[in-house]
Amino acid sequence: MNLETIERLKMSSENSNIREKSPSESHAEVIVRMFPTDANPAGNVFGGEILKHIDMVAGIVAQRHSQSNAVTVSMDSVNFLKPIFVGNVLKLNARINYVHNSSMEIEVKAEAENIVTGIRTITGNAFVTFVALDKNGKPMHVPRLALKTDEDRTKFDEGKIRMEKRLKNRQK
Ligand SMILES: CC(C)(COP(=O)(O)OP(=O)(O)OC[C@H]1O[C@@H](n2cnc3c(N)ncnc32)[C@H](O)[C@@H]1OP(=O)(O)O)[C@@H](O)C(=O)NCCC(=O)NCCS
Repeated sequence: MNLETIERLKMSSENSNIREKSPSESHAEVIVRMFPTDANPAGNVFGGEILKHIDMVAGIVAQRHSQSNAVTVSMDSVNFLKPIFVGNVLKLNARINYVHNSSMEIEVKAEAENIVTGIRTITGNAFVTFVALDKNGKPMHVPRLALKTDEDRTKFDEGKIRMEKRLKNRQK
């Protein structure tokens, strides 16, 4: 990060009411029914449709945590482990794992439910990085994470390692 960016973040943080927030304060869950327009002719839901919902639920978490506008800068480790079919209910569970200055790593887990049989299947997961923006569209500090549980601490440490790798591999 260059000096200009550091100064910008300092200024933004002076204007924002920084406090600590726990991951459970921003946790979000969405449930969506899958329709024929969401799928190919064989009834398999499009990966892009699932990604759209992943991005949206991760955005809710990022905005809840930062209480600001937040934009997606990266999506990685996206895995579609099992198919989701038309008529299934897609359930997405999202939590914040790690924050740096303006960036936040959100983990999303996807589950499909056949609402006739009640069978639920873990179908995928992803990590989405959001950046909080101030009123001028510039990156701004977000609240630090209050790590209250062992899971919070483990996820934070793992998130930090992933973020370092992510930044090392990114192409500007
Ligand atoms: C978000 C954006 C303003 C950041 O601009 P930038 O010039 O990269 O800003 P900086 O270099 O100061 O980085 C800001 C933060 O983003 C992080 N970041 C930038 N690119 C990243 C990437 N590919 N993966 C993870 N983090 C990234 C930086 O590490 C930094 O985090 P920190 O403040 O916690 O240290 C710019 O990349 C952008 O506008 N991207 C488009 C976003 C968008 O339109 N998304 C889709 C629609 S929501």
